Amino acid sequence: MQELKNKLERSVSDGTFMRAVCSGRFDKTVKKCVYTPANHKGSAEIAEERFMPDGKALHSFYKTDGFCETFLKISEAYKQTDIYCKDFSAVVLRSRKGALHISYGKGVQETESGKTEKNYILSPKEKYDFLVLLGIQDKNGRVYDKKQSKFRQINRFLQIVSDTLSSLPGEDLTVWDLCCGKSYLSFAVYYYFRFVLNRQIIIYCVDRKKDVIEECGGYAKQLGWNGMRFICGDIFKVLPDKTAELVLSLHACDTATDMVLAEAVRRGAKVILSSPCCQHELAGQIKCDELSFVLREPVLKQKLSAVITDALRCRLLYAGGYKVTTLEFIDPEETPKNLMIRAEKTYIPKNLRKVALSEYDAICEKLNVRPSMRRLLDETLSDLNKGDM
Ligand SMILES: C[S@@+](CC[C@H](N)C(=O)[O-])C[C@H]1O[C@@H](n2cnc3c(N)ncnc32)[C@H](O)[C@@H]1O
Repeated sequence: MQELKNKLERSVSDGTFMRAVCSGRFDKTVKKCVYTPANHKGSAEIAEERFMPDGKALHSFYKTDGFCETFLKISEAYKQTDIYCKDFSAVVLRSRKGALHISYGKGVQETESGKTEKNYILSPKEKYDFLVLLGIQDKNGRVYDKKQSKFRQINRFLQIVSDTLSSLPGEDLTVWDLCCGKSYLSFAVYYYFRFVLNRQIIIYCVDRKKDVIEECGGYAKQLGWNGMRFICGDIFKVLPDKTAELVLSLHACDTATDMVLAEAVRRGAKVILSSPCCQHELAGQIKCDELSFVLREPVLKQKLSAVITDALRCRLLYAGGYKVTTLEFIDPEETPKNLMIRAEKTYIPKNLRKVALSEYDAICEKLNVRPSMRRLLDETLSDLNKGDM
C-alpha cells in the first residue's frame, strides 16, 4: 500500500492523476465513488462524485494536499478501487477481512475531447504474441485492417471483465469459455488475469469443432500458457468437471446460450458474461393474440422473439440469484450481435426470486413458450418453492 500511496501522491502533485473509482462498497450505502481532478473556485482540487443507491449523486471537493491519505482511507470500505494516471494504473481488490491484492498496469491516455477514459487493456501500439498467432496482429504488432473491429471487441470485452472483478474471488480463478470457437476471448482473458493482474488462472475452452480446438491448443502450447485447457465436444454433453467462477460465452448459437446460462447458474458461477446470438427457439413457439399485429410479420416476429428470449433469460438469471445488466458491448454498426448479458451472483431475498420466477412462468404461459433455459433449470429452481437455497 505504501508503494501505491507514493505513486498516487506523485501523480496528484505533478498533475498526471486522471481518475479513480471505488466500487463494491461492503455495506452497500454508496454505489460507487468517482474522483477526478477539477478546478474548484480557482484552485486545483479533486472532485468526488458519490453515486447513491437511490440514483442521486453527491458532490464534494478535496484539496490535493492530503487527498491521497483520505482517498486510500475511503477506499478501505470498497471491494474494488481502480486508479488511472498518465504513467500507471492500478486495481486494488480488498476482501471483507482486509486481505489486499494490488496489481499495476499501464498509464491511461487522454481522449481528443480532453476527457479521461479507462485505457484499453491491450494497446494497439504493442505487439502481443497471442494476437499474432490468432491472426489479429502482424508480426510487427500492427492490427490488420480487417481485424480492427475484432481487436476493439476483445478490448471492450476485457473492460467488461475488469468491471466485474469485485464480484470474483481475489485468488486463483477458474474460467469457462463455452462455444469458444477460435478462443479470442479466452486468450485475451488469460493474458489479462495471468500477465496484467498477475493472478493464477485456469481457463477451459469448449467447442465442438475439432480442428479449431486443436489449432488453439497448439497456440496455447506455443505460448507456454499451460493454464489453458481445450475440450472438443458438444456443451450439452461435455463440460469441465471443475466449476468456474467466471463463465464466458460469446455468440453461442441459439439454445447453446441457454445451456451456458443454465449450467453457470446450476454451478453457482460468480460472474456470467454472455453475448447471445441467433435466438430462433421462441420464434417457432410464440403465440399471443395481443401480439398478433407484430407476429404476422416474419421479420418482426424474429426480432421480437429474440428480444423476448433475452429478456426472459435475464429474468431467470435474477430468479437464480444474479443481478443482471444488459450492455451493448460494441458499436451496433460493427455487428448487430452486440448484446451482452452481464450477471453477477449476489444476495437476492428468496421471496423476490420466487416472485420473479412466478412472473416469468406467467409470461411464458401467456406467450405459449417454453424456453430451454427454463427447462434446464427446472430442478435447480424447484428449490425456490422448498427450503432455503
Ligand atoms: C459464432 S461462433 C462464436 C465463436 C467464439 N465464441 C467467438 O465469438 O469468436 C459459435 C461457436 O459455437 C460453437 N457451438 C455452437 N453450438 C455448440 C455446442 N452445442 N457445443 C459446442 N460448441 C458449440 C460453434 O462450433 C462455433 O465455434
